[in-house]
Amino acid sequence: MKWKKLSSEDIKSKIFGALDNNVNFYDENILGVPASHLDGKVFQSDVPFLKDAPYLSTLVRNPNHIGLHTSGSSESFFKGTHEIEKEVIKICSNDILKGEGEYDGYIASGGTEANMQAIWIYRNYFIEKFAADINQICIICSEDSHYSMNKAANILNIGIRRIKVDNNKRTIDEQDLKANIYEASQKGIKYFIVIANMMTTMFGSVDNPDIYSNLLKESGYEYKLHIDGAYGGFFYPFSQPENKLNFSNLNVDSITLDAHKMAQAPYGTGIFLCRKGLIQFASTREASYVEGEDNTIVGSRSGANAIAVWMILSTYGPNGYFEKILVLQNRTDWLCSKLDKLSIDYFREKKSNIVTIKAEHLKPELANKYGLVPDNHVNPKWYKIVIMDHVLIESLEPLVNELL
Ligand SMILES: Cc1ncc(COP(=O)(O)O)c(C=O)c1O
Repeated sequence: MKWKKLSSEDIKSKIFGALDNNVNFYDENILGVPASHLDGKVFQSDVPFLKDAPYLSTLVRNPNHIGLHTSGSSESFFKGTHEIEKEVIKICSNDILKGEGEYDGYIASGGTEANMQAIWIYRNYFIEKFAADINQICIICSEDSHYSMNKAANILNIGIRRIKVDNNKRTIDEQDLKANIYEASQKGIKYFIVIANMMTTMFGSVDNPDIYSNLLKESGYEYKLHIDGAYGGFFYPFSQPENKLNFSNLNVDSITLDAHKMAQAPYGTGIFLCRKGLIQFASTREASYVEGEDNTIVGSRSGANAIAVWMILSTYGPNGYFEKILVLQNRTDWLCSKLDKLSIDYFREKKSNIVTIKAEHLKPELANKYGLVPDNHVNPKWYKIVIMDHVLIESLEPLVNELL
C-alpha cells in the first residue's frame, strides 16, 4: 500500500464500506458487549446529512478500537474500521517515516500516552531481557523535552535526567550529557531510555539523535531510542525530508506523532509507532475478555479517531500535505524577515513554523493580547508564536506593527 490522494467520493465509499464490515447495533442482535451506537435520543442516526459525513457517521456508529490491530487478532465486531487504523499506521511508518516493511502501532489518546507507551515498553524490555532492577533504568532527554517524560518517569517509577541545551541554539550540551551518563552510571544506572525530539514544544528545535547513540554505544550501555514527534511528526518530515529521526535510522526504535496538532485532526489522535518485536513488552495477558491481546496503555478508544486521521491523509495525499506545510513555512519566513528588520532576537529551527522570541522584546500585555505562550508563567524568558493554519500574514501584521 502506498499513501495516495483520493477523491471525496472514494473516501466516502471506503469509510462507509468499512462501517459495513463492523457490527451494526441498529439491526444486528448483539447481546454480549457493553457497547452500542451513540444514544439515539441525543445523537440521531437518521438525519440526512450523515449520508455525506463519514466521520460523523463513524462517531454515531461508535466503533471501539480497544487493543492493538497491527499484529495478532483483534475484536472482530469492528474489523472494518480496524483495517483503516492499520492503514494509518502503515502510511505513517512507511510513507512519512521511511520505514521498510511492517511496524506495530496504534492511535493513542495523545502525545503523552504515546511517549509513555514507549517508555513503558522499554522499562519492561530491560526488566525482562536483562533482569534489570527498576533503579538501574533511567530516561534521558533534553531540558526542552515535553513534561510527559517526567509524567512517565513518575508513573513508571524510574529516574529521569534532563540534559542542558545551548540557550541560543537549543542544541544538546554534549559535555553535560557525558557528565550525566557518568554520574548516572556511578549511581548504578545501566539501561537508558533515550528520547530525542523532532521539534520541541516551546522552540520547535530538533535533536541530533546520533549524539545520544554514539555516546551510549561507545560507553557500552544498553539503550533504546524513542523519537518524540508529537509536535513535529506531521511537519518536519515534509519540511526537512533528509533527517535522522525516522525508521531509516536503524538506531530509532519507536516514534510518537500527534495528528491533533499539525494535521488538525480531532483530539485523541496521538500515534505510537514501533519496530516489530517490541510491543509485546507492553502486553497485558490478563486482558482475557478482549479478542487478541491488549498491548496499549489505554483501554477502549474511539474508532472515529482513526477515521479522521485517514481522511485527512487521503484528502491531501503526499503532495498536497507537502504544500500545506510549505505554506506555513512561507508565512514563518515572512514573520522572521520582519523580526530581523526590527533586530528582535528569536529562535527558529530551520524551516520550522515556531518562532520563539526573547521576552525582553515583548511586554507581557502584548504577549497576552495576541495569545503568545511563555516558556513559564512566573518568570517568562521566551514567548512563542506558532504559525498554524489560521495564523495568516494578516493575523501577524498587527503584532509586527505593534512591535515597531
Ligand atoms: C513535543 C511534545 N511532546 C508531547 C506532547 C504531549 O502531547 P498531548 O498534549 O497530545 O498529550 C506535546 C504537546 O504539546 C509536545 O509538544
